[in-house]
Amino acid sequence: MTYHATLIPGDGIGPEITAATLKVLSATGVAFDWDEQLAGIAAVEKAGTPIPEGTLQSIRERKLALKGPLTTPVGSGFRSVNVALRKEFELFANLRPAITILPGRYDNIDIVLVRENLEGLYSGVEHFIQIGSDPRAVAVSEAILTRQVAERIVRYAFDYALTHQRKKVTLVHKANILKMVGGLFLEVGRSVAREFEGKVACNDLIVDNAAMQLVLKPEQFDVIVTTNLFGDILSDLISGLVGGLGLTPGGNIGANVAIFEAVHGSAPDIAGQGVANPSAHMLAAAMMLDHVKEHAAAGRVREGIRRTIVDDGIRTRDPAAPPTPRSSAMQSLGGLQAEVPCVRCHERIPGLPWGERCPACRAERSRRARKLARRISLVAALIAAAILGLRVPPGPDARMSIGIGVLGAFLLTRVIAQRLAMEFLPD
Ligand SMILES: NC(=O)c1ccc[n+]([C@@H]2O[C@H](COP(=O)([O-])OP(=O)(O)OC[C@H]3O[C@@H](n4cnc5c(N)ncnc54)[C@H](O)[C@@H]3O)[C@@H](O)[C@H]2O)c1
Repeated sequence: MTYHATLIPGDGIGPEITAATLKVLSATGVAFDWDEQLAGIAAVEKAGTPIPEGTLQSIRERKLALKGPLTTPVGSGFRSVNVALRKEFELFANLRPAITILPGRYDNIDIVLVRENLEGLYSGVEHFIQIGSDPRAVAVSEAILTRQVAERIVRYAFDYALTHQRKKVTLVHKANILKMVGGLFLEVGRSVAREFEGKVACNDLIVDNAAMQLVLKPEQFDVIVTTNLFGDILSDLISGLVGGLGLTPGGNIGANVAIFEAVHGSAPDIAGQGVANPSAHMLAAAMMLDHVKEHAAAGRVREGIRRTIVDDGIRTRDPAAPPTPRSSAMQSLGGLQAEVPCVRCHERIPGLPWGERCPACRAERSRRARKLARRISLVAALIAAAILGLRVPPGPDARMSIGIGVLGAFLLTRVIAQRLAMEFLPD
């Protein structure tokens, strides 16, 4: 069987990771007939609009798309194409699974985040209010949540949990402060949860606590369902738990159309350098294979990625996989000692403790700290000399007293200044 799907390579690193992903997909043997279309900056440059009608038409007909990341201008310019596509095709659920591939800071993460994709603070209801001569004196962005949308997303999360043998759904909200939007989400969430009692467990957490719990005890989470903005932020946080944005895929699911993509953006800082991690996009393609019930091929893609990264030790430079006492066995990955980036120069050094500077950066910092401490202690010695010169009464021992005082001030200030400089000197 041949699957007809729309292919949007996207902006920035999009074309690179799409080319790599197509090679993997063709190796699975599952046949795709791709209709390549433009969106984002690439579309603005070629067609004068970020979402050409041809792109919408293709997705409308094929109902399935693999999309690269799209650049959205910050603060001004055209509205997010991603948001527009979600609205156009009513892609109400954003499914973001994160599984540990490369054990490191955390070894066994397996969390699925279900994000409400259409409403909340992404509703696009925004305006400025003019005060005096300032037309942008007040900015208003409205968060909107309808009962029906809240119920649909929570029900999707529980159905997903039930059909994927998951045990628990956590409702994440901010109902203590956002009494309306947060309150309605929680009320609807608890009501849907009662229907699944005995089959899927449920708890709820305020979003700030959820963020801390995710960092402290991520193993307590299974499926998380939350509103749009919290889902956006927490899914990047969860990506960080499994090694970074290069490893987490996402699916935008609607009743008729599904669009799969990596969680990350167009990464303009590394575009065109051939260093982008294509794994997230490949994992999004695996989600797409699952969506069309090609589960065996999806499994092969995931296993291929795991073997390449873990067994063969072949990696791009982004995944953060620090050796920690809990995972000392991971000091060696595929025969290679884990390389950890220096927090200052980012050079990867085998065996460097996580969050530390490399020896060269440490030596450089120590040299700068010594230089600064020398200057400060000279000033302190001069001040001490001036004060002692005025205060010590003349006599046979006056010179020696002043000398000892000045030397003491010099040495003490130098030791303290050097310690403080090592601690607080900016890089
Ligand atoms: N779904 C999407 O299309 C989508 C999602 C998020 C952001 N964006 C857009 O992307 C643009 C850039 O956004 P940003 O910089 O905030 O986020 P980003 O995800 O593009 O990049 C954040 C950081 O992660 C790194 N990174 C991201 N993907 C990587 C990969 N595959 N391999 C290695 N490193 C990777 C980048 O180099 C960067 O340092 C913006 O215009 C934003 O609106 C698009």
